[in-house]
Amino acid sequence: MTEPLVRMEDVTKEYPLGAARVVALRGVSLTVAPGEFLAVVGPSGSGKTTLLNLMGALDLPTRGRVVVDGVDLGTLKGDRLADFRRERIGFVFQLFHLIPDLTALENVMVPLIPYRHRLKFNLERRARELLEAVGLGDRWRHLPGQLSGGEQQRVAIARALIGNPRLLLADEPTGNLDSRTGGEIMDLLRRLNREHGLTLVVATHNPDIVAQADRVIRLRDGQIVAK
Ligand SMILES: Nc1ncnc2c1ncn2[C@@H]1O[C@H](COP(=O)(O)OP(=O)(O)OP(=O)(O)O)[C@@H](O)[C@H]1O
Ligand SMILES: [Mg+2]
Repeated sequence: MTEPLVRMEDVTKEYPLGAARVVALRGVSLTVAPGEFLAVVGPSGSGKTTLLNLMGALDLPTRGRVVVDGVDLGTLKGDRLADFRRERIGFVFQLFHLIPDLTALENVMVPLIPYRHRLKFNLERRARELLEAVGLGDRWRHLPGQLSGGEQQRVAIARALIGNPRLLLADEPTGNLDSRTGGEIMDLLRRLNREHGLTLVVATHNPDIVAQADRVIRLRDGQIVAK
């Protein structure tokens, strides 16, 4: 059997809240195979974003282990965690999170600009190719405010791919788009998954996304429940 790309073992995540604490995940175990497209569903507050953040090394679990691409994230500290994210993970968010006064091209380049002198490829050329791949080859000079919502999300997807990640995490990527545009974004993600073998984990409320996924897990109160 091939090694899973993601392995979570009995993961609990608690957030401090004043003197109390909120348990966002309770003893979650799961694996994601390389090349798999996994949808994560569940009601608001059930722990979907928390799960993605832990897979993407944006946060560490309170208890349990998260292993991604053979690396136990609990062993990484500070800068090493940031390096890991930059080199292996791509994130796409509901609200795009583009920088308003940078062009589409600059937004795609941004994560790697501080490192551009030690890259083995030309950053601007790769950013142009990615914009081409997401169907925005002719929009690279536009500012985010000069792009539609769907186009902004395409820029965000190109940005997520700039570091050639092993794992793409998308947190409600179509949540802010109308259904037709959302469908186009989903087709794009699906194509990246199918044609480039990109492993995809998508938290979503969108039944069209769920229908296309290889597998679906449902969260409720921080636990995986049967569908
Ligand atoms: N930084 C935080 N501090 C305290 N509690 C938090 C924090 N982040 C999340 N929580 C709590 O953890 C639980 C899970 O939140 P999470 O954001 O993972 O849910 P979600 O499934 O993504 O919800 P939604 O569908 O609304 O995005 C919720 O009860 C939430 O209030
Ligand atoms: Mg969420």
